[in-house]
Amino acid sequence: MINVLKSFLSVLMAFLNIFASPIFGDFNAPAKPLNPSECKLNFATISDIHMTDEVLRSLMLEIGLYDMENSEYPLDALVATGDLTDHGEEQEWQMLADTFAKRNPAKNIILAQGNHDTWTEDDGYGLAKELFIKYNKEITGREIENEYYSTKINGYTFIVLASEDDRTSMFMSDAQLAWLEKEMKKASKDGLPIFVVSHWPLNQSHGLPETWGDDEPEPDDGGIGDQSVQVEAILKKYNNVFLLSGHIHNGFVNERQAETYGYMSVESDGSFHSINLSPYMYMTVRGRVANGTGFNFEVYEDRVEIRARSYSAGVWYTDYCETIPLA
Ligand SMILES: [Fe+2]
Repeated sequence: MINVLKSFLSVLMAFLNIFASPIFGDFNAPAKPLNPSECKLNFATISDIHMTDEVLRSLMLEIGLYDMENSEYPLDALVATGDLTDHGEEQEWQMLADTFAKRNPAKNIILAQGNHDTWTEDDGYGLAKELFIKYNKEITGREIENEYYSTKINGYTFIVLASEDDRTSMFMSDAQLAWLEKEMKKASKDGLPIFVVSHWPLNQSHGLPETWGDDEPEPDDGGIGDQSVQVEAILKKYNNVFLLSGHIHNGFVNERQAETYGYMSVESDGSFHSINLSPYMYMTVRGRVANGTGFNFEVYEDRVEIRARSYSAGVWYTDYCETIPLA
């Protein structure tokens, strides 16, 4: 009963968001790239869908998929950065697949696994892996052998990481780390930005560990965990690397608000760019309080436009948009 109420409130807040949006966003701007003729890659990103078997959660997702489907220029991809389901159970995966089947949000769909997707009650991690691979194929049409995989869209490489255990932080085997190293090297030869998709952000980025919410947080809380330093070292060997993550359930925060909240949604050192996404299904507790949001990426020859959008309200949040010049 409480879950139904929570879901109802989420949907209600998404609609209320429409009325608050003009204060922060552009209600009238169309859902299309800033410069369509020069845009080389245009994709939506959302995180933390947390699908259950409740119809209201399905509706909440469908509202956003409908917004994407009705973009004036079809999106090249939709990327969902983990916690696709709430507990990795088959009926939740089925609800997710049924919801995606109702809409055609983008030409390609990229799904990453999150810690909640590994929390399958029966048979633990083995079943979680099996279900991720099975429903990844059903939803995206992509055949994968491992939960970690890479794909190319319009010539741009997307490298999707995954945990190989059912803990809260991430666990990457030596095999996955070696694979990441190889994939990054291969992708860098194209001379284009590389997009790395991981549910977990790097340790101590985006205000971690304080933003994880524990009263007495350990330094690595909320991040990749044990292998964060190794992942960071591999990614930072290259230019124009974009790490897309979720997991913390932070709201949008821009540079102007960084001191107040202790983090930013888009953190950049000029070459490595870390983008942390708000939870799609839940209201955030800090930053821009909303749900149904994500970032839209437009890749141009010389820059990447990262545009905050409420997919549930169909509004660009211009206050949280960033332009990243390519190195
Ligand atoms: Fe989550």
